[in-house]
Amino acid sequence: MTEENYDLLSEKFENEVKKSQKTTFTNNMKLPIHRWYRYSAGFSAEWVEDILKTLPIGLNVYDPFAGSGTVMIAADKMGFNSIGVDPHPFVSKMTSAKLGWNISVDEYQTTIKKVLNFALKANEINISTDDYPPLIEKSYSKDNLAKLDALKHGLETVEMSEQVKPLVWFTLATILRSASGVGTAQWQYILPTRKTHEFNAFDAFKAKADQISEDMIIYQKKYQKKSKFLATDARNAFEVPENWADIVITSPPYANNYDYADATRLEMSFFGTVQSWGDLQEKVRKYLIRSSTQSVSKLKDATFDIAKDDLLSPIYSELQPILEQLLAERETHGGKKNYHTMIVNYFLDMAKVMHDLRRVVKQNGEIIMVIGDSAPYGVYIPVDRWLGELALSQGFTEWHFAKERDRNIKWKNRTHTVPLKEGYLTIKG
Ligand SMILES: C[S@@+](CC[C@H](N)C(=O)[O-])C[C@H]1O[C@@H](n2cnc3c(N)ncnc32)[C@H](O)[C@@H]1O
Repeated sequence: MTEENYDLLSEKFENEVKKSQKTTFTNNMKLPIHRWYRYSAGFSAEWVEDILKTLPIGLNVYDPFAGSGTVMIAADKMGFNSIGVDPHPFVSKMTSAKLGWNISVDEYQTTIKKVLNFALKANEINISTDDYPPLIEKSYSKDNLAKLDALKHGLETVEMSEQVKPLVWFTLATILRSASGVGTAQWQYILPTRKTHEFNAFDAFKAKADQISEDMIIYQKKYQKKSKFLATDARNAFEVPENWADIVITSPPYANNYDYADATRLEMSFFGTVQSWGDLQEKVRKYLIRSSTQSVSKLKDATFDIAKDDLLSPIYSELQPILEQLLAERETHGGKKNYHTMIVNYFLDMAKVMHDLRRVVKQNGEIIMVIGDSAPYGVYIPVDRWLGELALSQGFTEWHFAKERDRNIKWKNRTHTVPLKEGYLTIKG
Protein backbone atom coordinates (compact mmCIF):
# COMPACT_ATOMS: atom_id res chain seq x y z
CA MET A 1 0.00 0.00 0.00
CA THR A 2 1.39 3.43 -0.90
CA GLU A 3 1.96 6.23 1.58
CA GLU A 4 -0.96 8.08 0.02
CA ASN A 5 -3.26 5.12 0.51
CA TYR A 6 -2.25 4.89 4.15
CA ASP A 7 -3.12 8.56 4.58
CA LEU A 8 -6.50 8.04 2.96
CA LEU A 9 -7.14 5.02 5.13
CA SER A 10 -6.21 6.80 8.33
CA GLU A 11 -8.37 9.76 7.34
CA LYS A 12 -11.25 7.40 6.67
CA PHE A 13 -10.65 5.72 10.03
CA GLU A 14 -10.64 9.05 11.84
CA ASN A 15 -13.86 10.07 10.13
CA GLU A 16 -15.43 6.77 11.08
CA VAL A 17 -14.40 7.23 14.71
CA LYS A 18 -15.77 10.74 14.68
CA LYS A 19 -18.94 9.58 12.98
CA SER A 20 -19.54 6.71 15.36
CA GLN A 21 -19.16 9.07 18.30
CA LYS A 22 -21.78 11.59 17.19
CA THR A 23 -24.37 10.03 19.41
CA THR A 24 -22.08 9.88 22.46
CA PHE A 25 -20.64 12.40 24.89
CA THR A 26 -17.04 11.06 24.74
CA ASN A 27 -15.41 13.79 22.63
CA ASN A 28 -17.09 16.53 24.67
CA MET A 29 -14.54 15.82 27.41
CA LYS A 30 -11.98 17.68 25.26
CA LEU A 31 -14.14 20.79 24.84
CA PRO A 32 -14.38 23.85 27.11
CA ILE A 33 -17.39 23.86 29.45
CA HIS A 34 -18.74 20.58 28.05
CA ARG A 35 -15.81 18.88 29.83
CA TRP A 36 -16.88 20.07 33.28
CA TYR A 37 -18.56 16.72 33.82
CA ARG A 38 -19.23 13.61 31.81
CA TYR A 39 -22.95 13.06 31.28
CA SER A 40 -23.13 9.52 30.00
CA ALA A 41 -26.56 10.14 28.46
CA GLY A 42 -25.31 13.15 26.49
CA PHE A 43 -24.48 13.46 22.78
CA SER A 44 -21.65 15.09 20.83
CA ALA A 45 -21.29 18.88 20.88
CA GLU A 46 -19.37 18.77 17.58
CA TRP A 47 -22.32 17.07 15.94
CA VAL A 48 -24.62 19.86 17.20
CA GLU A 49 -22.16 22.49 15.95
CA ASP A 50 -22.02 20.79 12.54
CA ILE A 51 -25.80 21.14 12.24
CA LEU A 52 -25.77 24.76 13.41
CA LYS A 53 -23.01 25.61 10.90
CA THR A 54 -25.46 24.89 8.08
CA LEU A 55 -28.04 27.38 9.42
CA PRO A 56 -28.25 31.19 9.43
CA ILE A 57 -26.84 32.60 12.70
CA GLY A 58 -29.47 33.97 15.04
CA LEU A 59 -32.16 31.30 14.60
CA ASN A 60 -34.00 29.95 17.64
CA VAL A 61 -32.89 26.49 18.80
CA TYR A 62 -34.91 24.40 21.24
CA ASP A 63 -33.86 21.30 23.18
CA PRO A 64 -36.80 19.75 25.06
CA PHE A 65 -34.50 17.16 26.70
CA ALA A 66 -31.57 19.39 27.54
CA GLY A 67 -29.69 17.07 29.95
CA SER A 68 -26.23 18.52 30.52
CA GLY A 69 -26.91 21.45 28.15
CA THR A 70 -24.81 20.32 25.16
CA VAL A 71 -27.11 22.04 22.65
CA MET A 72 -27.21 25.32 24.55
CA ILE A 73 -23.47 25.55 25.09
CA ALA A 74 -22.94 24.83 21.37
CA ALA A 75 -25.62 27.41 20.50
CA ASP A 76 -23.91 30.08 22.66
CA LYS A 77 -20.66 29.36 20.85
CA MET A 78 -22.24 29.56 17.40
CA GLY A 79 -24.34 32.71 18.01
CA PHE A 80 -27.82 31.15 18.19
CA ASN A 81 -30.63 31.82 20.65
CA SER A 82 -31.52 28.70 22.56
CA ILE A 83 -33.89 27.35 25.17
CA GLY A 84 -33.46 24.01 26.89
CA VAL A 85 -35.72 22.26 29.37
CA ASP A 86 -35.18 19.31 31.72
CA PRO A 87 -37.13 18.75 34.95
CA HIS A 88 -34.68 16.32 36.60
CA PRO A 89 -34.05 18.07 39.95
CA PHE A 90 -30.34 17.26 40.05
CA VAL A 91 -29.47 17.39 36.34
CA SER A 92 -31.32 20.68 35.94
CA LYS A 93 -29.46 22.22 38.87
CA MET A 94 -26.16 21.15 37.30
CA THR A 95 -27.10 22.52 33.89
CA SER A 96 -28.34 25.90 35.07
CA ALA A 97 -25.11 26.28 37.05
CA LYS A 98 -23.04 25.32 33.99
CA LEU A 99 -24.85 27.91 31.90
CA GLY A 100 -23.69 30.49 34.42
CA TRP A 101 -20.35 30.46 32.55
CA ASN A 102 -20.69 34.23 32.02
CA ILE A 103 -20.52 35.29 35.70
CA SER A 104 -17.47 37.09 37.11
CA VAL A 105 -14.41 34.80 37.10
CA ASP A 106 -12.78 36.87 39.88
CA GLU A 107 -15.77 36.49 42.14
CA TYR A 108 -15.93 32.76 41.42
CA GLN A 109 -12.25 32.25 42.20
CA THR A 110 -12.36 34.35 45.39
CA THR A 111 -15.39 32.43 46.64
CA ILE A 112 -13.79 29.07 45.85
CA LYS A 113 -10.73 30.11 47.88
CA LYS A 114 -12.90 31.11 50.84
CA VAL A 115 -14.82 27.81 50.74
CA LEU A 116 -11.58 25.84 50.52
CA ASN A 117 -9.99 27.77 53.42
CA PHE A 118 -13.10 27.25 55.52
CA ALA A 119 -13.04 23.53 54.71
CA LEU A 120 -9.33 23.15 55.52
CA LYS A 121 -9.90 24.68 58.96
CA ALA A 122 -13.13 22.73 59.60
CA ASN A 123 -11.36 19.53 58.62
CA GLU A 124 -8.80 20.01 61.39
CA ILE A 125 -11.60 19.97 64.00
CA ASN A 126 -12.66 16.54 62.80
CA ILE A 127 -16.45 16.88 62.53
CA SER A 128 -18.41 13.61 62.63
CA THR A 129 -19.76 12.35 59.30
CA ASP A 130 -21.96 9.63 60.83
CA ASP A 131 -25.18 11.20 59.59
CA TYR A 132 -24.65 10.22 55.96
CA PRO A 133 -26.68 7.33 54.51
CA PRO A 134 -24.95 3.94 54.16
CA LEU A 135 -24.48 4.41 50.37
CA ILE A 136 -22.31 7.48 51.02
CA GLU A 137 -20.38 5.83 53.85
CA LYS A 138 -19.63 2.88 51.56
CA SER A 139 -18.56 5.12 48.69
CA TYR A 140 -15.86 7.14 50.51
CA SER A 141 -13.05 6.60 52.99
CA LYS A 142 -13.74 8.31 56.33
CA ASP A 143 -10.97 10.79 55.60
CA ASN A 144 -12.23 11.87 52.17
CA LEU A 145 -15.86 12.02 53.32
CA ALA A 146 -14.77 14.36 56.12
CA LYS A 147 -13.14 16.61 53.49
CA LEU A 148 -16.24 16.57 51.25
CA ASP A 149 -18.42 17.27 54.26
CA ALA A 150 -16.19 20.21 55.23
CA LEU A 151 -16.52 21.60 51.69
CA LYS A 152 -20.29 21.23 51.90
CA HIS A 153 -20.29 23.14 55.21
CA GLY A 154 -18.10 25.77 53.55
CA LEU A 155 -20.65 26.12 50.77
CA GLU A 156 -23.44 26.60 53.34
CA THR A 157 -21.48 28.94 55.63
CA VAL A 158 -19.31 31.22 53.51
CA GLU A 159 -21.14 34.35 52.45
CA MET A 160 -21.56 34.50 48.68
CA SER A 161 -23.78 36.12 46.09
CA GLU A 162 -26.77 34.28 44.62
CA GLN A 163 -25.05 34.55 41.24
CA VAL A 164 -21.91 32.66 42.19
CA LYS A 165 -23.46 30.09 44.51
CA PRO A 166 -24.77 27.66 41.84
CA LEU A 167 -21.35 27.34 40.19
CA VAL A 168 -19.57 26.81 43.53
CA TRP A 169 -22.13 24.13 44.41
CA PHE A 170 -21.60 22.65 40.93
CA THR A 171 -17.82 22.48 41.52
CA LEU A 172 -18.38 20.31 44.57
CA ALA A 173 -21.04 18.19 42.84
CA THR A 174 -18.73 17.38 39.90
CA ILE A 175 -15.97 15.92 42.10
CA LEU A 176 -18.16 13.44 43.95
CA ARG A 177 -17.35 10.64 41.49
CA SER A 178 -13.59 11.19 41.25
CA ALA A 179 -13.30 11.59 45.04
CA SER A 180 -14.97 8.22 45.55
CA GLY A 181 -12.85 5.14 46.16
CA VAL A 182 -15.36 2.70 44.71
CA GLY A 183 -16.81 1.86 41.32
CA THR A 184 -19.46 4.50 40.98
CA ALA A 185 -18.93 4.91 37.20
CA GLN A 186 -19.71 8.14 35.41
CA TRP A 187 -23.22 9.29 35.99
CA GLN A 188 -24.57 5.83 36.46
CA TYR A 189 -25.12 4.24 39.79
CA ILE A 190 -23.17 1.04 40.32
CA LEU A 191 -23.02 -0.90 43.58
CA PRO A 192 -20.08 0.46 45.51
CA THR A 193 -17.88 -2.63 45.55
CA ARG A 194 -15.15 -2.24 42.92
CA LYS A 195 -12.11 -0.37 44.24
CA THR A 196 -10.70 2.48 42.18
CA HIS A 197 -8.37 5.34 42.94
CA GLU A 198 -9.77 7.93 45.33
CA PHE A 199 -8.79 11.56 44.62
CA ASN A 200 -8.15 13.78 47.61
CA ALA A 201 -11.35 15.90 47.75
CA PHE A 202 -9.51 19.19 48.41
CA ASP A 203 -7.14 18.66 45.46
CA ALA A 204 -10.02 17.60 43.20
CA PHE A 205 -12.07 20.67 44.22
CA LYS A 206 -9.19 23.02 43.48
CA ALA A 207 -8.33 21.34 40.16
CA LYS A 208 -11.95 21.44 39.03
CA ALA A 209 -12.26 25.13 39.97
CA ASP A 210 -9.10 25.88 37.93
CA GLN A 211 -10.57 24.09 34.90
CA ILE A 212 -13.89 25.91 35.27
CA SER A 213 -12.15 29.32 35.54
CA GLU A 214 -10.02 28.58 32.48
CA ASP A 215 -13.05 27.70 30.35
CA MET A 216 -15.08 30.67 31.61
CA ILE A 217 -12.29 32.97 30.44
CA ILE A 218 -12.19 31.28 27.00
CA TYR A 219 -15.95 31.54 26.52
CA GLN A 220 -16.28 35.06 27.95
CA LYS A 221 -13.59 36.38 25.62
CA LYS A 222 -15.16 34.92 22.50
CA TYR A 223 -18.87 34.33 22.96
CA GLN A 224 -22.07 35.86 24.21
CA LYS A 225 -24.51 33.94 26.36
CA LYS A 226 -27.91 33.80 24.69
CA SER A 227 -29.13 30.51 26.10
CA LYS A 228 -31.90 30.03 28.59
CA PHE A 229 -32.58 26.94 30.66
CA LEU A 230 -35.82 26.00 32.37
CA ALA A 231 -36.25 23.19 34.88
CA THR A 232 -39.54 22.16 33.34
CA ASP A 233 -41.28 19.26 31.64
CA ALA A 234 -41.18 18.82 27.84
CA ARG A 235 -44.67 17.31 27.97
CA ASN A 236 -46.02 20.75 28.85
CA ALA A 237 -43.29 23.35 28.57
CA PHE A 238 -45.70 26.29 28.60
CA GLU A 239 -42.94 28.77 29.50
CA VAL A 240 -41.39 28.19 26.07
CA PRO A 241 -43.15 30.62 23.71
CA GLU A 242 -45.54 29.41 21.05
CA ASN A 243 -44.21 29.33 17.48
CA TRP A 244 -40.71 30.15 18.73
CA ALA A 245 -38.34 27.41 17.55
CA ASP A 246 -36.81 27.31 14.06
CA ILE A 247 -35.04 24.08 14.86
CA VAL A 248 -35.13 21.44 17.59
CA ILE A 249 -32.00 19.41 18.28
CA THR A 250 -32.56 16.83 20.96
CA SER A 251 -32.37 13.31 22.31
CA PRO A 252 -35.15 11.99 24.54
CA PRO A 253 -34.78 9.17 27.05
CA TYR A 254 -34.89 5.83 25.19
CA ALA A 255 -37.48 3.17 25.99
CA ASN A 256 -34.71 1.02 27.43
CA ASN A 257 -35.28 0.96 31.18
CA TYR A 258 -32.43 3.37 31.98
CA ASP A 259 -33.38 5.02 35.24
CA TYR A 260 -32.34 8.69 35.23
CA ALA A 261 -33.37 9.03 38.88
CA ASP A 262 -31.16 6.23 40.14
CA ALA A 263 -28.27 7.47 37.97
CA THR A 264 -27.81 10.47 40.25
CA ARG A 265 -28.47 8.71 43.56
CA LEU A 266 -24.89 9.17 44.76
CA GLU A 267 -24.96 12.95 44.39
CA MET A 268 -28.52 13.38 45.64
CA SER A 269 -27.77 11.27 48.70
CA PHE A 270 -24.63 13.28 49.46
CA PHE A 271 -26.54 16.57 49.35
CA GLY A 272 -29.43 15.10 51.34
CA THR A 273 -31.97 15.57 48.53
CA VAL A 274 -32.99 11.92 48.67
CA GLN A 275 -32.80 9.64 51.70
CA SER A 276 -34.58 6.57 50.39
CA TRP A 277 -35.85 4.65 47.39
CA GLY A 278 -39.28 6.25 47.95
CA ASP A 279 -37.70 9.69 47.69
CA LEU A 280 -36.36 8.85 44.22
CA GLN A 281 -39.92 8.14 43.14
CA GLU A 282 -41.47 11.21 44.72
CA LYS A 283 -38.73 13.74 44.12
CA VAL A 284 -37.35 12.66 40.75
CA ARG A 285 -39.09 9.96 38.69
CA LYS A 286 -42.51 11.50 38.82
CA TYR A 287 -41.28 14.47 36.75
CA LEU A 288 -39.63 12.40 34.01
CA ILE A 289 -40.66 10.59 30.83
CA ARG A 290 -41.59 7.07 31.94
CA SER A 291 -38.77 5.14 30.32
CA SER A 292 -38.06 2.71 33.16
CA THR A 293 -40.20 0.09 34.87
CA GLN A 294 -39.50 1.71 38.25
CA SER A 295 -41.57 4.74 37.26
CA VAL A 296 -44.69 2.77 36.41
CA SER A 297 -44.94 0.13 39.13
CA LYS A 298 -48.35 1.34 40.33
CA LEU A 299 -49.90 1.48 36.83
CA LYS A 300 -49.62 -2.18 35.88
CA ASP A 301 -53.36 -2.91 35.99
CA ALA A 302 -54.19 0.15 33.90
CA THR A 303 -51.82 -0.76 31.03
CA PHE A 304 -54.42 -1.75 28.43
CA ASP A 305 -56.73 1.15 29.29
CA ILE A 306 -53.89 3.63 28.91
CA ALA A 307 -53.23 2.19 25.43
CA LYS A 308 -56.70 3.37 24.40
CA ASP A 309 -55.82 7.03 25.00
CA ASP A 310 -56.65 9.11 21.92
CA LEU A 311 -53.08 10.35 21.72
CA LEU A 312 -51.98 6.77 21.00
CA SER A 313 -54.61 6.02 18.35
CA PRO A 314 -52.16 6.33 15.39
CA ILE A 315 -50.13 3.36 16.72
CA TYR A 316 -52.82 1.48 18.69
CA SER A 317 -53.29 -1.42 16.25
CA GLU A 318 -49.58 -2.27 16.45
CA LEU A 319 -49.05 -1.32 20.08
CA GLN A 320 -51.82 -3.44 21.56
CA PRO A 321 -50.53 -6.88 20.38
CA ILE A 322 -46.99 -5.92 21.42
CA LEU A 323 -48.24 -5.11 24.92
CA GLU A 324 -49.93 -8.54 25.02
CA GLN A 325 -46.66 -10.14 23.93
CA LEU A 326 -44.69 -8.29 26.62
CA LEU A 327 -47.21 -9.37 29.25
CA ALA A 328 -46.90 -12.99 28.11
CA GLU A 329 -43.09 -12.78 28.21
CA ARG A 330 -43.26 -11.32 31.69
CA GLU A 331 -44.75 -14.57 32.96
CA THR A 332 -41.77 -16.57 31.71
CA HIS A 333 -39.09 -14.35 33.31
CA GLY A 334 -38.00 -14.37 36.94
CA GLY A 335 -37.77 -10.56 37.31
CA LYS A 336 -41.42 -10.10 36.22
CA LYS A 337 -40.70 -6.66 34.82
CA ASN A 338 -43.65 -4.55 33.76
CA TYR A 339 -42.24 -3.66 30.36
CA HIS A 340 -45.74 -3.56 28.87
CA THR A 341 -46.65 -0.78 31.33
CA MET A 342 -43.41 1.06 30.69
CA ILE A 343 -43.84 0.96 26.90
CA VAL A 344 -47.40 2.25 26.88
CA ASN A 345 -46.57 5.11 29.23
CA TYR A 346 -43.39 5.95 27.33
CA PHE A 347 -45.31 6.45 24.09
CA LEU A 348 -48.10 8.33 25.83
CA ASP A 349 -45.51 10.71 27.30
CA MET A 350 -43.76 11.10 23.95
CA ALA A 351 -47.11 11.80 22.24
CA LYS A 352 -47.59 14.64 24.75
CA VAL A 353 -44.10 15.91 23.89
CA MET A 354 -44.96 15.86 20.15
CA HIS A 355 -48.14 17.81 20.96
CA ASP A 356 -46.17 20.48 22.81
CA LEU A 357 -43.50 20.55 20.10
CA ARG A 358 -46.19 21.34 17.53
CA ARG A 359 -47.06 24.37 19.68
CA VAL A 360 -43.43 25.55 20.02
CA VAL A 361 -42.00 24.75 16.56
CA LYS A 362 -42.64 27.17 13.67
CA GLN A 363 -44.68 25.87 10.73
CA ASN A 364 -41.64 25.33 8.50
CA GLY A 365 -39.43 24.25 11.39
CA GLU A 366 -37.51 21.04 11.79
CA ILE A 367 -36.79 18.55 14.58
CA ILE A 368 -33.65 16.40 14.67
CA MET A 369 -33.84 13.76 17.35
CA VAL A 370 -31.18 11.19 18.25
CA ILE A 371 -33.07 8.04 19.14
CA GLY A 372 -32.50 4.33 19.66
CA ASP A 373 -35.00 1.50 19.44
CA SER A 374 -35.38 -1.20 22.09
CA ALA A 375 -36.34 -4.82 22.63
CA PRO A 376 -37.43 -5.50 26.22
CA TYR A 377 -37.61 -9.27 26.82
CA GLY A 378 -36.50 -9.59 23.18
CA VAL A 379 -39.74 -8.03 21.86
CA TYR A 380 -38.81 -5.47 19.20
CA ILE A 381 -40.27 -1.96 19.63
CA PRO A 382 -40.07 0.19 16.45
CA VAL A 383 -39.41 3.37 18.40
CA ASP A 384 -38.36 5.61 15.49
CA ARG A 385 -41.36 4.71 13.35
CA TRP A 386 -43.88 5.07 16.17
CA LEU A 387 -42.45 8.43 17.19
CA GLY A 388 -42.63 9.52 13.54
CA GLU A 389 -46.28 8.50 13.36
CA LEU A 390 -47.12 10.25 16.63
CA ALA A 391 -45.48 13.40 15.25
CA LEU A 392 -47.60 13.29 12.08
CA SER A 393 -50.77 12.88 14.13
CA GLN A 394 -49.90 16.11 15.97
CA GLY A 395 -49.70 18.05 12.69
CA PHE A 396 -46.11 17.62 11.48
CA THR A 397 -45.96 16.76 7.79
CA GLU A 398 -43.11 14.26 7.31
CA TRP A 399 -40.56 12.15 9.13
CA HIS A 400 -37.46 10.25 8.15
CA PHE A 401 -35.03 8.02 10.07
CA ALA A 402 -31.33 7.65 9.22
CA LYS A 403 -29.31 4.96 11.01
CA GLU A 404 -26.03 6.07 12.58
CA ARG A 405 -24.90 2.82 14.18
CA ASP A 406 -25.91 -0.70 15.14
CA ARG A 407 -26.29 -1.62 18.79
CA ASN A 408 -26.48 -4.90 20.63
CA ILE A 409 -24.39 -6.76 18.08
CA LYS A 410 -21.11 -7.25 19.89
CA TRP A 411 -21.75 -7.58 23.59
CA LYS A 412 -21.30 -11.06 24.99
CA ASN A 413 -23.55 -10.41 27.97
CA ARG A 414 -26.54 -9.17 25.99
CA THR A 415 -29.85 -10.48 27.23
CA HIS A 416 -31.39 -10.99 23.77
CA THR A 417 -30.21 -11.17 20.16
CA VAL A 418 -32.52 -8.65 18.49
CA PRO A 419 -30.36 -6.23 16.47
CA LEU A 420 -30.90 -2.65 17.54
CA LYS A 421 -29.93 0.66 16.01
CA GLU A 422 -29.43 4.29 16.90
CA GLY A 423 -29.77 7.25 14.55
CA TYR A 424 -31.54 10.47 13.66
CA LEU A 425 -35.25 10.95 13.41
CA THR A 426 -35.96 14.07 11.37
CA ILE A 427 -39.44 15.53 11.59
CA LYS A 428 -40.61 18.41 9.42
CA GLY A 429 -43.67 20.55 9.13
C1 LIG B 1 -30.67 11.40 26.41
S1 LIG B 1 -30.68 12.61 27.70
C2 LIG B 1 -30.30 14.09 26.82
C3 LIG B 1 -28.85 14.49 26.99
C4 LIG B 1 -28.45 15.76 26.27
N1 LIG B 1 -28.61 15.65 24.83
C5 LIG B 1 -27.00 16.07 26.60
O1 LIG B 1 -26.15 16.09 25.70
O2 LIG B 1 -26.69 16.25 27.79
C6 LIG B 1 -32.38 12.76 28.05
C7 LIG B 1 -32.72 13.79 29.12
O3 LIG B 1 -34.13 13.90 29.17
C8 LIG B 1 -34.46 14.33 30.48
N2 LIG B 1 -35.91 14.16 30.70
C9 LIG B 1 -36.58 13.11 31.21
N3 LIG B 1 -37.88 13.40 31.29
C10 LIG B 1 -38.04 14.65 30.80
C11 LIG B 1 -39.18 15.50 30.62
N4 LIG B 1 -40.40 15.11 30.97
N5 LIG B 1 -38.98 16.72 30.07
C12 LIG B 1 -37.75 17.13 29.70
N6 LIG B 1 -36.63 16.39 29.89
C13 LIG B 1 -36.79 15.15 30.42
C14 LIG B 1 -33.56 13.47 31.36
O4 LIG B 1 -33.43 14.05 32.65
C15 LIG B 1 -32.27 13.46 30.53
O5 LIG B 1 -31.38 14.43 31.01
